[in-house]
Amino acid sequence: MADHPRHRLGSPLRFALDTAAFKRDPHPTFARMRDAGPMIPLKLPFIGRAWATTTYASTLALVKDNDLFVQESRHAGKSGVVGFTWWMPRSLKTLTNNMLLKDEPDHRRLRKLVDQAFMRRGVQEMRPRIDAMADALLDELESLDSVDLLNDFARRLPLDVICEVLGLPNQDRAVFAEWTKLITQINKPHDIIRALGAINRMIDYVRGQIEDCRRSPRPGLLGELVRAEADGDTLDEDERLSMVFLLLAAGFETTTHLIGGAVIALDQNPAQKAYLLADPAARMERAVEEIGRFWTPVQTTKPRYVAHDADFFGQPLRRGDVVVALLAAANADPAHFDAPETLRLDRFPNQHLVFSSGIHFCLGMQLARVETQSALSRLYARFPDLAIPPADQLDWITRFGIRGVKSLPAQLAPHLRRAA
Ligand code: HEM
Repeated sequence: MADHPRHRLGSPLRFALDTAAFKRDPHPTFARMRDAGPMIPLKLPFIGRAWATTTYASTLALVKDNDLFVQESRHAGKSGVVGFTWWMPRSLKTLTNNMLLKDEPDHRRLRKLVDQAFMRRGVQEMRPRIDAMADALLDELESLDSVDLLNDFARRLPLDVICEVLGLPNQDRAVFAEWTKLITQINKPHDIIRALGAINRMIDYVRGQIEDCRRSPRPGLLGELVRAEADGDTLDEDERLSMVFLLLAAGFETTTHLIGGAVIALDQNPAQKAYLLADPAARMERAVEEIGRFWTPVQTTKPRYVAHDADFFGQPLRRGDVVVALLAAANADPAHFDAPETLRLDRFPNQHLVFSSGIHFCLGMQLARVETQSALSRLYARFPDLAIPPADQLDWITRFGIRGVKSLPAQLAPHLRRAA
């Protein structure tokens, strides 16, 4: 390992990870970060001072070590949740009672209750249904001159799928989509107030749905979570609510930006797009893995805490320090991926960290894969020549941690429009 200076968390290095330029092309920034060492101190929006990984090796080591890196602040001699402050309402803090923010044994107890529903086999069986949902959305868009592929397609498909998995009524999806939009699009301080209002309405709604399920059982995961209580599993009311929110939040914006990112990445790489469309049935699975690596829509894990003083990749970590694993930096590391800045849809093996690793690796990984494969197959089967603006004209999300755009204006069949 090359020798790097010993850094101090009190003297964070300056890298802009919340700009449109970085989201458009993160590689030059990641290269400079790697030069500073595999573990570097940063000052991050909302999170504050935190150590961040910059290489594949340090990222993997961080997410695998759940003795040294813990989710619950009390296991590192602290209190509260990173990013949450005293003024946030109790309703919001209730929602932090979820598996992602828990250490063992609570994490395992909560994950076990739902992991059956997200196993590979069951998810594969959902493929025809997901194809049909994608087709139905595209039917609505077909006759329009121009569409917003992000909000009208990439956002709606994962929401439709997760609502069906949970067993939430179809007719509630439009208002649900509106609330989730308010919650996930926080750019200015007053957006927080609107988001809090939407969260409270969603909490009331989910509570109501749980009550309905108790009175009259119905298919879906929500019903199973209610039945789990009858079977004597330990899941309190806050945990049940928090679980539903986690599944909605973790399963929805993430997949939206993988689908949106895929359309942008394929547009920027026409030869690769032609290769994929020449035989989508055979090439789609591997292609989605590579698009995932190349785009890495979730650029970072949630912050964790250092449980005890330790040296990690040459850096002196102190109990209570905050750390993040930069999955996007890992997926861009030339020590692990040959020409990482190049999209190669036949890349194999491809041990990317898009869905992280270790005990908190993505529960919905299989679902996200099938949704994205399905979305791209159905979209390009109908609109192989769809056109979008160049990357520098897109409206990028600058918020730290997510790589994606706020909207994706597209002409689905530009040659037909020209001919008309
Ligand atoms: C492209 C889509 C997706 C990406 C890139 C993604 C990425 C991730 C990542 C990186 C983590 C680890 C976070 C951390 O350790 O801080 C994670 C965890 C998680 N994801 Fe996903 N995810 C996606 C889709 C989904 C879907 C569709 C669902 C399910 C509905 C889902 C549910 C979860 C849950 C419940 C966790 C927490 C697991 C645990 O703590 O044990 N995700 N995801």
